[in-house]
Amino acid sequence: MQTTTLSQDIVTGLEAITGAQFIFLDIQTRTHYGHDETEDYNFPPSVVVKPGTPQEIAEIMKLANQHSIPVVPIGARTGLSGGALSIYGGIGLSMERFTKIEIDEKNLQAILEPAVITQVFREAAAEKGLFYPPDPSSQGSCTIGGNVAENSGGARAVKYGVTKDYVLNLEVVLPNGEIIWTGANTLKNSTGYNLTQLMVGSEGTLGIITKIVMKLLPKNSHNVLMLIPFFKAGQACEAVAEIFRAGIVPSALEFMERDAIDWGLKYLDAVNLDIKDEVQAHLLVEVDGNYPDVLFAEAEKIMGVVERFEVDEILFADTEEQKNALWKLRRTVAEAVKSNSVYKEEDTVVPRYELPTLLEGIKIIGKKYGFQSVCYGHAGDGNLHVNIIKGDMTDDNWKNEVPKGIREIFELTVSLKGTLSGEHGIGYVQKNYMDIAFSNTHLQLMKGIKQLFDPNNILNPGKILPDNL
Ligand code: LAC
Ligand code: ZN
Repeated sequence: MQTTTLSQDIVTGLEAITGAQFIFLDIQTRTHYGHDETEDYNFPPSVVVKPGTPQEIAEIMKLANQHSIPVVPIGARTGLSGGALSIYGGIGLSMERFTKIEIDEKNLQAILEPAVITQVFREAAAEKGLFYPPDPSSQGSCTIGGNVAENSGGARAVKYGVTKDYVLNLEVVLPNGEIIWTGANTLKNSTGYNLTQLMVGSEGTLGIITKIVMKLLPKNSHNVLMLIPFFKAGQACEAVAEIFRAGIVPSALEFMERDAIDWGLKYLDAVNLDIKDEVQAHLLVEVDGNYPDVLFAEAEKIMGVVERFEVDEILFADTEEQKNALWKLRRTVAEAVKSNSVYKEEDTVVPRYELPTLLEGIKIIGKKYGFQSVCYGHAGDGNLHVNIIKGDMTDDNWKNEVPKGIREIFELTVSLKGTLSGEHGIGYVQKNYMDIAFSNTHLQLMKGIKQLFDPNNILNPGKILPDNL
């Protein structure tokens, strides 16, 4: 596939659909929409279009289909797998005008447009005593549409599940310009193939999501948050499975190795923590519910489990301020690491008992290929983010050696019955590792689905499926 050049006729056609004020051809705007948070990539679309209604999107898709122009749906560009990159140019379809929120308190549901910021939605639900659990670290800037497209998770997924567990129904503009609803606004649904869940996590390759019906929960009132320092990183990982085996399901169980927390602290002036030199890793553990006594009893049980390992003094966050500071520190790790160096971010996930083996293997592979990695993530889900640091590595090594190391990391992950991505998606940067997780038969089924939805391959081409399929 070649990079697209747009004729004046196409531009005129787009202007007729949205109005000229929503079409942008200047290089600053195109560059702005040409990147997300994935490494240091920038692939500017040939034109940025900001439609205002599903009908306008339908018209854009018809025009694009007729002229075989790639269309890339763009949200807040916080993605970490390159899903929103216009790698072949074409139309960058910014969804930013779709910002409506409607909360249906009678059914504990919400109808959202895709550009609603996740945190704005969570706060709007909380104001009505309701709870939307998925909380990606970028919740202050990412959008619900992007979360659905990537099936985002976050820290609370360990108890409450990820985005897919809340999506009931979607309005979608198909690549041919037709508009469908994928399911029903019901909590149960056994009616035919589940196109709603097929669309979730499809990374903007099957259709453009224009409305999302989400399930909500009643909000609970209390939580207890503790930070547990471990003298051995491997033991922090071992403790994770033991906490569940003791009968506790924490509402968050996060792992940060020493570098992750150090880099976070360096990046955030406002947060101070005194950590002994010998501490190698931390677990950040939260339990939540409505009855403080129950939560304290659970916290004590967790202490009983972790004290079987070599731990330093456990810090309990007593105030909202302390809790916010710890969460800020945890959420800022990716940004902090990025501010130090270009990095590749892998999103490995294994059954949680395998976490210590995965961490150890990653470090051995890093030594073999000469790279430093900073590991952290949603340990309770077995979901370990592996930031591979470029530092002063040569471009040649970065380009040719590191991918071999990443391949070995993924091979290890799959051998432990895990997979390539827990919550960031495959997008542009992981697609050529898909053969590790899937047989050719499996990949051909996926390709067949893509062709059925998008026979001209215009919607977010060059994502998810490997190049040589
Ligand atoms: C996090 C993002 C990177 O867990 O997924 O911070
Ligand atoms: Zn994460």
